[in-house]
Amino acid sequence: MKLLKVVAIVVALGFIILLASMCGEPEKAQAQEKAAALDKASPKTAFSYVGLKKCKPCHLKYQYNKWKEDPHAKAYTELASPKSLEVAKKLGLKEEPQKSAQCLSCHVTGYGAAENLKKDVTLEEGVSCEGCHGPGSSYWPMSVMKDLAAGKGDAKAVGLLAQTEESCKKCHNQKSPTYKPFDFKKALPVVAHAYPKEETK
Ligand code: HEC
Ligand code: HEC
Ligand code: HEC
Ligand code: HEC
Repeated sequence: MKLLKVVAIVVALGFIILLASMCGEPEKAQAQEKAAALDKASPKTAFSYVGLKKCKPCHLKYQYNKWKEDPHAKAYTELASPKSLEVAKKLGLKEEPQKSAQCLSCHVTGYGAAENLKKDVTLEEGVSCEGCHGPGSSYWPMSVMKDLAAGKGDAKAVGLLAQTEESCKKCHNQKSPTYKPFDFKKALPVVAHAYPKEETK
């Protein structure tokens, strides 16, 4: 009899918690659950890519809208342009540039990462947020990012990469068949998407 009572209480509690999480902020709860699941699925040394769609809602105004207009957003589609076909022809490429490892390596996000770590990234998003900031599975929960922005927490431990001249040069180097000398100071304003000084979010 006692046991039955305990079971009933446990079931009732479980139900209440479930209801609460459903009425509360379902999207946030789901997002956190997913982030936790991703964390579990991949060790800390192998962060996974969560994809552009995940960053967009919270970073719409000052980052996404700005990025959409910068060359990185069209890095993949550019591989189908007449110029790309010309470059490919000169190099004697056998496949289309959009299918060639020789081009994709710098024109998409997460090239070279294991397939299971980038299921949520599309080729079409080109060089998107995580192409520069690193795979987001451990840093994209809001609480983590707020801490980092406030100077708390360890960016490296959650996979958020520092933005430096060196990090740009992973792609902006002479292996690019259309290489233009890379001037970091001049290049930075083209991609800059900082919050206005007086404001965040
Ligand atoms: C649930 C909302 C949310 C999502 C999703 C989100 N962010 Fe953030 N992000 C924030 C907030 C809030 C801040 C802190 C802003 C502030 O107070 O300056 C932030 C800060 C950042 C910062 C600055 C960190 C620092 O050290 O100053 C970067 C870079 C960033 N986010 C990138 C991303 C990327 C890339 C993604 C997708 C993988 C992403 N964010 C997804 C809410 C979010
Ligand atoms: C090592 C990285 C890297 C590789 C590999 C790479 N690209 Fe690029 N690509 C870049 C970068 C960085 C830029 C922008 C600056 C520049 O042109 O150097 C660019 C720009 C371009 C442009 C625009 C150039 C312009 O002047 O408008 C085209 C077209 C292009 N790439 C085609 C290709 C093709 C086709 C391949 C494969 C045969 C390829 N890229 C391989 C990094 C790379
Ligand atoms: C080409 C590389 C690149 C891409 C792609 C990129 N970022 Fe950034 N991001 C940077 C750099 C560089 C900075 C630091 C710029 C600066 O000094 O203001 C930065 C800064 C930020 C910050 C901090 C802003 C602040 O005021 O401190 C946030 C948030 C952010 N990026 C989010 C995003 C999101 C979201 C996306 C995708 C929509 C994205 N980034 C795509 C390079 C990139
Ligand atoms: C993952 C590879 C990658 C990284 C990392 C990257 N870029 Fe690029 N970038 C590209 C490609 C590819 C293009 C060409 C896009 C196109 O025209 O289709 C490009 C184009 C540009 C251009 C316009 C062409 C030019 O050279 O004038 C600028 C400016 C630029 N990137 C700045 C930056 C800066 C600043 C950083 C570091 C904060 C950075 N990029 C990091 C791949 C990358």
